Amino acid sequence: MNTSKIVLVTGASSGIGEATARRLAAAGHHVVLGARRVDRLARLVAELKEAGHDAEYAELDVTDLAGVRAVVDDVLARHGRIDVLVNNAGIMPLSMVEDLRVDDWNRMIDVNLRGVLHGIAAVLPSMRERRAGQIINVASTAANRVDPTGVVYSATKYAVRAVSEGLRQETPDLRVTVVCPGLTRSELTHSGGTEQLQDAVRDAVGEVGLDSSAGARGDSRSRAGRPPSADWFPTGAAAHGTLIWAPRSRGETCGQGGHVQLGVGGRLHRGRE
Ligand SMILES: NC(=O)c1ccc[n+]([C@@H]2O[C@H](COP(=O)([O-])OP(=O)(O)OC[C@H]3O[C@@H](n4cnc5c(N)ncnc54)[C@H](OP(=O)(O)O)[C@@H]3O)[C@@H](O)[C@H]2O)c1
Repeated sequence: MNTSKIVLVTGASSGIGEATARRLAAAGHHVVLGARRVDRLARLVAELKEAGHDAEYAELDVTDLAGVRAVVDDVLARHGRIDVLVNNAGIMPLSMVEDLRVDDWNRMIDVNLRGVLHGIAAVLPSMRERRAGQIINVASTAANRVDPTGVVYSATKYAVRAVSEGLRQETPDLRVTVVCPGLTRSELTHSGGTEQLQDAVRDAVGEVGLDSSAGARGDSRSRAGRPPSADWFPTGAAAHGTLIWAPRSRGETCGQGGHVQLGVGGRLHRGRE
């Protein structure tokens, strides 16, 4: 039986999205990589193809609904279906609310929340028609707790969790998953926000963050092959049985209210298998 899936990954030009695309391609799935930096996508697709994997890319700005629909429609026209959408694109320009960086707030709402909704709007009709499909929304441990400087970022991630929970309830024939990674080394802190804060977070992530492939790897281990320290704990099962590790100091935010943080088809996932 051919178990290969057609998977669209948004924000696949770096970080967690790139690692997820690599992992899924290596597992034999056909990955469609979407992001704005097409030069990066082109390089990654060439590399994946060179390794014998099945991949393509499309320029994608998740804030542009018509553009997202066009990419999805093109994939549907050529492949007949999208089995899995990984709604991963996101940004995190940190600042205190009192700094009134309204443009940054709006950008986060546009990318982190509207972008996720645009992805859902584009794939849902065909998934409903087929009564099959999976939508994976990448939220964050910040979807469960708010810290100073990350207020609006958290607000968008809380909203992504709410959208995921609600969509899961409304679409019994689909699988809806919310993934909440902990601190992960990526390019997330490379732009926007207050310079000093972004520098500080970058340092912290460099010190304790996971490698961006941790969440996508199938071996359930951190970059060191084990939890970074005794203070880390697995927050649950993620894509294809992977575990993502989060610092224990943030542990009280995980599993709150019985909410399982991670779990794509895993047993920990509260939704349907
Ligand atoms: N790193 C962490 O500690 C952490 C923790 C929890 C959750 N997350 C979440 O994980 C997701 C991935 O982030 P990351 O850490 O891997 O950061 P990253 O390396 O900065 O990756 C972000 C990706 O989003 C894409 N993107 C940004 N704006 C976009 C837009 N308008 N349209 C399409 N793509 C866009 C970027 O590609 P282009 O710039 O090429 O478009 C990039 O590929 C985000 O949702 C983030 O909130 C990260």
